Amino acid sequence: MLLDRSSRVSAGLLAAALASTLWSASVHAADTTPAAQLQHWSAQAGAPGNAARGQAFFNTKHGGEWSCASCHGTPPTTQGQHANTGKLIAPLAPAFNPKAFTDTAKVGKWFKRNCNDVLSRACSANEKADVLAYLNSLK
Ligand code: HEC
Repeated sequence: MLLDRSSRVSAGLLAAALASTLWSASVHAADTTPAAQLQHWSAQAGAPGNAARGQAFFNTKHGGEWSCASCHGTPPTTQGQHANTGKLIAPLAPAFNPKAFTDTAKVGKWFKRNCNDVLSRACSANEKADVLAYLNSLK
């Protein structure tokens, strides 16, 4: 009887653990797409992203030590490598990385951090739209 009761308790705990795992997974689940990101930043910019401009932006240093390509590679269709830490980075171009640009919070976090590292400021909506147009064009 005692055993029975404790096994029911642990089943309950297991269910709770499972539910919280599923919940946190859903928080990080895909909530956007590369196409939606391009549309979003183009709308913010008031003009469609331009792939050629995005490519130039991506490969250029903007007064600092790094370009986007320093860590993401060029073209960013294969694994990149962090210019400082050597940490491997999944390909940034969505056609080569199904997870790229599928999580709004992640995109926001890294745009903020990486633009600051490269330009010492945030990227404008125009620049983000251009980068997305470039990345989405890589097949
Ligand atoms: C110093 C190294 C470094 C530089 C320079 C850099 N990045 Fe990144 N970037 C990273 C790392 C590390 C990640 C996280 C990769 C991961 O965890 O999947 C990342 C992720 C991103 C993501 C998130 C992609 C996704 O998974 O949805 C975007 C967007 C991004 N970078 C854009 C840029 C842009 C634009 C530039 C140039 C302005 C740039 N990065 C320059 C290191 C860098």
